[in-house]
Amino acid sequence: MLELRRPELDLFSSFIEFIEEMRAHGQQLWGPYLPKEDELPQDFVSRLNLRETAPEAPFVPETIYWGVVDGNVIGRISLRHRLEGNLSLVGGHIGYEVRPSYRGRGFAKEMLRQVLLTPRAKAIGRLLLTCSPNNPASNRTILANGGVFDKTVFVDFIHDERNHYWITAQS
Ligand SMILES: CC(C)(COP(=O)(O)OP(=O)(O)OC[C@H]1O[C@@H](n2cnc3c(N)ncnc32)[C@H](O)[C@@H]1OP(=O)(O)O)[C@@H](O)C(=O)NCCC(=O)NCCS
Repeated sequence: MLELRRPELDLFSSFIEFIEEMRAHGQQLWGPYLPKEDELPQDFVSRLNLRETAPEAPFVPETIYWGVVDGNVIGRISLRHRLEGNLSLVGGHIGYEVRPSYRGRGFAKEMLRQVLLTPRAKAIGRLLLTCSPNNPASNRTILANGGVFDKTVFVDFIHDERNHYWITAQS
């Protein structure tokens, strides 16, 4: 029922509905995942897909997926190919959001499950996932996918704590 698809032009308008619904809930995707002002939809989609092979400095390569249910973009999930710099503290290998009206229906768990089955995730093997101790839904999403709690760290530059979990993607 839920399908992970790489960003594509046909899904652009549904993606925009997703980010507008996030905004209406006072939430926002990270800047580089959003269209720039005056950026054409096809350029935006290409830019997201290029992050896999030619990311803008200083970012590491990452594969971006949109979660699609019945033709609607209901979330997004990214798989970073390696940890560099601050990613070892905040961010880790995988990040995700689910569209507010689709939450609480198992879609975050399913997106994470499917990403862990990708050849890239299996090649990485051991994946770091980080989330706020105050985000029960995200902590449970990770635990439901085999996350093993490692530690809670205080991250100076965000003045906040992050739980660290490791998941082994089975090959
Ligand atoms: C975190 C987030 C992705 C969860 O998405 P979701 O689709 O609602 O999650 P699921 O329906 O797959 O549920 C995952 C688990 O969280 C639990 N859960 C869902 N909503 C919850 C809530 N509001 N409070 C407590 N637990 C909750 C579910 O019961 C499930 O746990 P279980 O399997 O042990 O029962 C979503 O809330 C979101 O996008 N939040 C904003 C962005 C964010 O926090 N991203 C993660 C950053 S680390």
